[in-house]
Amino acid sequence: MAEVDLSDVAGAILLDAAREAAGNAHAPYSRFAVGAALLLDDGAVISGTNMENASYGLSLCAETVAVAAANAAGRLRDIVAIGIVGGRIRPTGLDGSDPVRPCGRCRQILTEAAQMGGRDIVVHCASADGMRIERHLLSELLPHAFGPDDLGMN
Ligand code: THU
Repeated sequence: MAEVDLSDVAGAILLDAAREAAGNAHAPYSRFAVGAALLLDDGAVISGTNMENASYGLSLCAETVAVAAANAAGRLRDIVAIGIVGGRIRPTGLDGSDPVRPCGRCRQILTEAAQMGGRDIVVHCASADGMRIERHLLSELLPHAFGPDDLGMN
């Protein structure tokens, strides 16, 4: 019998949730919607989507919104994985063939959660067309990170 990779199963669930969240993006300026979904250590899923602002520089990324929601629920330390999907907003839906990987600021914000939780975070990234899926470790996306560990938090 073929072995099932549970990380891939989790990734598929997270990417579904991320895609649903992307449907709620407030992105009238870039017309680029991103959804993110976090898996917590008890199986709970917390989502976020990008939220832009008429003062462009104040825009919030989907990953940051999701991490802040986890923190608001008292779960910052419990994040084990994240799924991210994004693409251009078209009348027919989201469009794009490249996986969306977290921006630099989001990598740092995810690192805060990872180090506070004492674990690495698995990062599942998918293209809007669903044809490309990548699985990374946060520590590979942001190597040699500065974080709470450097300030003696753990
Ligand atoms: N965006 C995210 O939400 N996450 C990323 O990882 C990359 C970019 C958002 C920010 C902005 O609203 C839009 O995508 C275009 O940059």
